[in-house]
Amino acid sequence: MTVQFQVRPTDRPTPPQTREEILTDPGFGRYFTDHMVTVAWTPDAGWHDHQVTALAPITLHPGAAVLHYAQEILEGLKAFRHADGSVWLFRPTLNARRFAASSRRLVLPELDEETFVESVAALVRADEAWVPGYGGEQSLYLRPFMYATEAFLGVRPARQVTYSVIACPAGAYFPGGVTGVTLWISTRYSRAAIGGTGSAKCGGNYAASLDPQREALEHGCEQVLYLGGEQRRDIDESGTMNVFFVTADQELLTPSLGTILDGVTRDSVLTLAATHGLKPVERSISLDELRAGLADGTVTEAFAAGTAAVITPIVGFKSEEFTASVGDGEPGTYTRQFREHLLDIQYGRAEDTHGWMHRVL
Ligand SMILES: Cc1ncc(COP(=O)(O)O)c(C=O)c1O
Repeated sequence: MTVQFQVRPTDRPTPPQTREEILTDPGFGRYFTDHMVTVAWTPDAGWHDHQVTALAPITLHPGAAVLHYAQEILEGLKAFRHADGSVWLFRPTLNARRFAASSRRLVLPELDEETFVESVAALVRADEAWVPGYGGEQSLYLRPFMYATEAFLGVRPARQVTYSVIACPAGAYFPGGVTGVTLWISTRYSRAAIGGTGSAKCGGNYAASLDPQREALEHGCEQVLYLGGEQRRDIDESGTMNVFFVTADQELLTPSLGTILDGVTRDSVLTLAATHGLKPVERSISLDELRAGLADGTVTEAFAAGTAAVITPIVGFKSEEFTASVGDGEPGTYTRQFREHLLDIQYGRAEDTHGWMHRVL
């Protein structure tokens, strides 16, 4: 039976005129909607108090485990408005499954798939006015997260946990037209170690990425490309995106799962590859192989895939060892096709042959 969320609407909603002003240029992660979801957990009561209430600051004991030992996980997905006014989520059950996998790695309680999807849907319904209109590639970004609230010092799994969902309107990622990024290949930092938390979506991974990201910016690059594998010489992933390479013999190459995040966009691109005449291949790709492929033209395109930007063309790489551009340094044809195809499915312009869209309103 689907869990019912108790909805207590805010008595101080954002005035419609202010909200409309925000929606003309929401950017990303700058404005929050009027409501939030919370659900509490203890070992005795299990999950309880499923609520949608006014967005408000939270009170935590200074000894709350999350503040000391980072027992926390998160997710990110979007709601899209279609031309007929309806509102849809993109593959939310994959986020639910990944959230459950992250909770197992961080020894947090598991939330079942149905409750996860319903919690996100309940927030979208409460904040429907914040879902941007159709056209212009805007969406409502949803951020489910779970954190340890029990107050104690000592490293063990917490016995009090809160699950929550908040939301932010998100503007078009490339308002001035799709441009490419150059990635800084970090030989100094790793994102994940074998047996570490790389495949979990936990806040600590992102805290550890701030210094490498600073290094990338210092070198004139927009993002980091991390290396992994036993020798730290294999392509891993970017800071918040999985990476893909198109080869001259029509392969769509991406690093195998293991230490990387199992991206929803990654899975979707792999599924669509054959439709675009490419053979999807998941395997380890060494930095040397990439470097040689860029030099001899075997690697014709590169792109990154993730919920925020969908597909971001990669037009160059820089490292302590070399600098290389991809192809002619412009976003590639397949890259553009994948981007259009995914956006067309998400906004209801292309047939959803895989049943990926989940209607909320
Ligand atoms: C480290 C990392 N890799 C990849 C991704 C892409 O995953 P998805 O396509 O599910 O957004 C993300 C974004 O969540 C991420 O943070």
